[in-house]
Amino acid sequence: MNRILLATLFSVVWAERTPRLKFVIQETNRFHFEKPENYMTVYHKQGTDVLFVGGQAVIYMLTFTDKGVRDTKIPVVTNQNAKEACIAKSTWGKLECDNFITVIEEVNDTFVVCGTNVGIPKCWFLNNTVLSEVPKDARMAPASDISPPFPSHRSISLSAEGSLYSALSAVDQQKGSIRRVSGAGRLLKTENKWLLNPQFAGAAVIPASHKYKEEIYFIFSEINKTASVDDEPYRARIARVCLTDEGGVKNILPDSWTTFLKARVMCGSGNTPQQYNNIKQAYILTAQEKRTGIMYGLFSNAWEKTVVCAYSIEDIDQAFSTSKLKGYNSPLTGHRPGTCTMNTTAPPNTKILEVIRDHPEIEDVIRPIGGAPLDLPTEDHFTHIVMDTALAVNGEHYSVVYLGTEQGKVLKVLHTLDEAFIISQFSLFHNEGPVLSMAIDSQKGHLYVGTSTEIQRVPLADCSRYGDSCRECILSRDPYCGWDPAKKKCLAIPAGYNITTGALSQSLDQSNASICGDVKAMKSRTTVPKDVIVDSKGPVLLPCPIRSYHATYRWEKDNFSKRYPCTVSGTSCVLAPSPDLPLKEGVFRCMAEEDGFKQEVVSYRLVYNGSPLPASFASTLSLSVLLAAATLWLL
Ligand SMILES: *[C@@H]1O[C@H](CO)[C@@H](O)[C@H](O)[C@H]1NC(C)=O
Ligand SMILES: *[C@@H]1O[C@H](CO)[C@@H](O)[C@H](O)[C@H]1NC(C)=O
Ligand SMILES: *[C@@H]1O[C@H](CO)[C@@H](O)[C@H](O)[C@H]1NC(C)=O
Ligand SMILES: *[C@@H]1O[C@H](CO)[C@@H](O)[C@H](O)[C@H]1NC(C)=O
Ligand SMILES: *[C@@H]1O[C@H](CO)[C@@H](O)[C@H](O)[C@H]1NC(C)=O
Ligand SMILES: *[C@@H]1O[C@H](CO)[C@@H](O)[C@H](O)[C@H]1NC(C)=O
Ligand SMILES: *[C@@H]1O[C@H](CO)[C@@H](O)[C@H](O)[C@H]1NC(C)=O
Repeated sequence: MNRILLATLFSVVWAERTPRLKFVIQETNRFHFEKPENYMTVYHKQGTDVLFVGGQAVIYMLTFTDKGVRDTKIPVVTNQNAKEACIAKSTWGKLECDNFITVIEEVNDTFVVCGTNVGIPKCWFLNNTVLSEVPKDARMAPASDISPPFPSHRSISLSAEGSLYSALSAVDQQKGSIRRVSGAGRLLKTENKWLLNPQFAGAAVIPASHKYKEEIYFIFSEINKTASVDDEPYRARIARVCLTDEGGVKNILPDSWTTFLKARVMCGSGNTPQQYNNIKQAYILTAQEKRTGIMYGLFSNAWEKTVVCAYSIEDIDQAFSTSKLKGYNSPLTGHRPGTCTMNTTAPPNTKILEVIRDHPEIEDVIRPIGGAPLDLPTEDHFTHIVMDTALAVNGEHYSVVYLGTEQGKVLKVLHTLDEAFIISQFSLFHNEGPVLSMAIDSQKGHLYVGTSTEIQRVPLADCSRYGDSCRECILSRDPYCGWDPAKKKCLAIPAGYNITTGALSQSLDQSNASICGDVKAMKSRTTVPKDVIVDSKGPVLLPCPIRSYHATYRWEKDNFSKRYPCTVSGTSCVLAPSPDLPLKEGVFRCMAEEDGFKQEVVSYRLVYNGSPLPASFASTLSLSVLLAAATLWLL
């Protein structure tokens, strides 16, 4: 045993910013895949209980209920000969020789499904559970413009106003593109020189007060393959196009966007070299009909450390509508490139089209809210991000960010103007594979999380987990939950909650439970010591369950006359004797202190084997429980 370690650990103090709570969630609301799905595409329509998951030659239609998950499997098989030929000639990608579903989108009440189809992408229509060929007369681009040929190539698809949009990442000889691939409008694409080996991370429709001003934002990384060793090859980007874009004229940009603009997105502190340039994932949440909202991006650096940066949609919009164009120094008179117009039958004049073609980038760079990444001091490697806003009892909206990790965990983070507070970490899965997909349903209040082996649904508001005291409820800082002093319960803020009634309490801007009453006046909980009889020569490690990782834990003996160290083992803080502090018979109490309030968690009365037993020893705690904890800890 490490004596120095033990000697210094009289009490365990965690950083205030690590997850405050850690939960292991064992709901019945989970679906197990029969075989691992290493690539998946999910589609979820807000307000429903159905999740579509596209996997290897199959679409799973999963209906979640309180009792469990109903599944319907829709096979989307591919030509067996093509599959065998692919496996025979492929040197590296044998595992990708199948029909992996890459697109599931609802366009005009019709489901469009596309798959890699062993390197020759193909699309289908899906009606209920029946797949059909895309009709010959459908206005739809070739499937190779919609789906990548192999599942490891990232692609994004998006349905808006009866049209389907796709973004294909660059691979090998393919340059990568952003396209409109179906719908009433012209089918358009990006010019090759506008994008430098893009790798797509997300896309979203940005609403506007007038329908014709609506845009789509695409988020991606660009890679300069000829960058010198000292140069950062990655640049994070955001690009936008107008939904009303109808392309250029015969000689200039005939089949290309005429409203395309892109900008550099920074994620790092100010102008320090510590920048994260590779954006892996992005999630945008906007108001219904207004151009306000927030974008969260998941970035990594060359050492694969992941961080999160947040951006204001207003800032991005402002940059696109006012910035100078890179490399263009003449004044911009008349039609400004990137303006969405109502009259799409009249494209801008050729002069402006030339400016648009040759100057796709704006000079302004997009910087994160607060000028730096969110302060999330965890060692976790993030793989996915989604977010929601919750209406709190003070009438304000608070951002809640959900981060999926490489170990199959999810962090729930409250992001206020001042800080990022990790409300909790939940472990959801039987095995620890990375989180491959996440979908959020703000209307119904659900989060869907998937790994290669399982899909689970968890509620966004899960207030009973925080315990039954005012302090525990308030200190959770979960904006979905409030303390109801009348019912003495931690409750979800109901839809349409009347904020003027003040029936529920929260403290979201800071951890402050003074609302629950004066600490000094509060009665501290005491516990009845559990009796433990042990052998004086054997190891004794008394466990104390950890509730809050923001609390300070310590062991005290015999009415606080002596303090003992507390060492973390899993979700316990274990009393571990050292040669300097040998165990003696007596009562040991585990005390937790948080936000100025000290409370007893558990207590034991330790008696050595062979000592005379007091009469009160009716039952004794099983020694094996303690030994199990001891073994865990000794490993
Ligand atoms: C979908 O199938 C139903 C019958 O199952 C049919 O009535 C309906 O017209 C079909 N819809 C489309 C868009 O083909
Ligand atoms: C969607 O509907 C619009 C108008 O109803 C039509 O013009 C468009 O072609 C449809 N899109 C698809 C993919 O069927
Ligand atoms: C890529 O990097 C090289 C070396 O730094 C530079 O000369 C070149 O201009 C860069 N290419 C682009 C498109 O930025
Ligand atoms: C739209 O453009 C056409 C062709 O240039 C023109 O005839 C028409 O007047 C314009 N309509 C509006 C509302 O500006
Ligand atoms: C909210 O509560 C206040 C006072 O309790 C009441 O006057 C008001 O009518 C309520 N508002 C709504 C929309 O119910
Ligand atoms: C906690 O909140 C109370 C009232 O809301 C305030 O008076 C007090 O100063 C706060 N405590 C801290 C440490 O900010
Ligand atoms: C601890 O305090 C209780 C009551 O205050 C008392 O009965 C007991 O004898 C004390 N134990 C020791 C070891 O001081």
